[in-house]
Amino acid sequence: SKVVAVVPAAGVGSRMQADRPKQYLTIGDQTILEHTLLKLAAHPDITRVIVALSPGDDYFSTLAVSNAPWLTTVNGGDSRADSVRNALSTLADDEWALVHDAARPCVNHDDLDQLIAMTRRPGFGGAILATPVRDTMKRALSGATAQPVVAHTENRDNLWHALTPQLFPAQALLQAIDSALAAGVTVTDEASAMEFAGHQVMLLDSDPANIKITRPADLPLARFYLQQSLM
Ligand code: CTP
Ligand code: MG
Repeated sequence: SKVVAVVPAAGVGSRMQADRPKQYLTIGDQTILEHTLLKLAAHPDITRVIVALSPGDDYFSTLAVSNAPWLTTVNGGDSRADSVRNALSTLADDEWALVHDAARPCVNHDDLDQLIAMTRRPGFGGAILATPVRDTMKRALSGATAQPVVAHTENRDNLWHALTPQLFPAQALLQAIDSALAAGVTVTDEASAMEFAGHQVMLLDSDPANIKITRPADLPLARFYLQQSLM
C-alpha cells in the first residue's frame, strides 16, 4: 500500500519563546520544517507529504520546498489532533498515514525503514517509534502547589516514551481520532486515539536522538544530531 507522510506544522511553539513558530527556526541553511519534510520525502516508500499549516502562516510560502511536486498543504486546527485529522480527511482508503511532528527533524532513515517495513507484515495494524524510559519515574501529588511533592514512584518496567512517526491505516486513524475527540479523550498522539478505539499498537525501539524540539535548549541538541547524521 501507499505510505503518505502527514506533518502537523500548525503550532505556535509557545514553549520555544522564539520570534516565530519553532518549525521556522533555522538549523544550518534550512528551517526545521524543511529538514523534516526533506528527510521524509527522501524515503523511497513515501509517495507524498501533506503538511498542516496555520491558516495565518506567512512563512511557508517563502520556503524553497513549498513548490515541491510531492507536497500538498491543508489548514491546521486548534489542536495537534485537529491538524492531523484535517490532513487525514484528504487520504484514500488504501493509504497508510505516517504522522510525524514538524518539530522532529532528527528522525533517521533506519527508523523510518523499520516502521514502514511493518506494513508488509500480514495483519499489521499500526506501530509507533518509541524509546524505553531510562530515569526513575515519580508521580507527584495532584493539585498544583508551589513545590511539587512525590506521591509515589512509578514502576518503570514496560514504560516507553512515545515518539513519532506513528503509522496507521489512514481511515482507521481518522475514525479513531473522531471518536476519541467526541468522547472527550485527550489525544496527544495518534496511538492514544487508536488505543481508545481498541486497536493494537506496536512499539518499535528507536534512536532517542529523534527529539521533539520543544524548549530553547533543544535547538543546539538538534543541530548536533543533524550534523552527526551527515558525517
Ligand atoms: N501542531 C499542529 N497544530 C496545532 C498544534 C501543534 O500542527 N494546533 C504541531 C506543531 O507544529 C508540532 C507538533 O504538532 O510540529 C507537535 O506539537 P508541539 O511540539 O506541542 O508544538 P507547538 O504546539 O507548536 O509548541 P507549544 O506546545 O510549545 O506551543
Ligand atoms: Mg503544543
